[in-house]
Amino acid sequence: MTITELLRRQHESFRRTLRAMRDSLKKDGTEGHAGLDRSLRHLLPLLAAHEEVEHDLLFPALSSSEKPVSGEVLDYFDKEHETVHHHIGELLESLQAPEARLRRLVATSDFIAVLEEHLEQEERTLFPLVEEILPLDAQERLGEAGRAQTAEAFEHAYGGTPS
Ligand SMILES: [Fe+2]
Ligand SMILES: [Fe+2]
Repeated sequence: MTITELLRRQHESFRRTLRAMRDSLKKDGTEGHAGLDRSLRHLLPLLAAHEEVEHDLLFPALSSSEKPVSGEVLDYFDKEHETVHHHIGELLESLQAPEARLRRLVATSDFIAVLEEHLEQEERTLFPLVEEILPLDAQERLGEAGRAQTAEAFEHAYGGTPS
């Protein structure tokens, strides 16, 4: 599996969780709150592992390739990750106050929109660049390393292997 196949597959799993979060938003009170909490517990360790693969494996490979990608482009994607985390922080805070339903609605909708946009942007811009500039064997090596790194993080978070 190449690195972009791995990352795209992970994006799909994030989208499934985001859809579940949207469904939880339609339910009120305890049920909606518990659903969001469950989705986040599932999503956050996987998202962290995914971002580490992008930051620790993919970005260095792009900046040291034969046609290096500029640091500015990679900084941009790092900043995007920071923005996503800012919204995660807001959402986690809103979950601390179950009675503040409007705040939770806003924080959740914002987070879903920001993460969806980020996933799409990587798929439209970053991944095609990876496929264009890295030789296929390098894309496959990175994919294997990324899969192993994700499995380790998954094991750590859930005591099992990714489904
Ligand atoms: Fe990302
Ligand atoms: Fe990504």
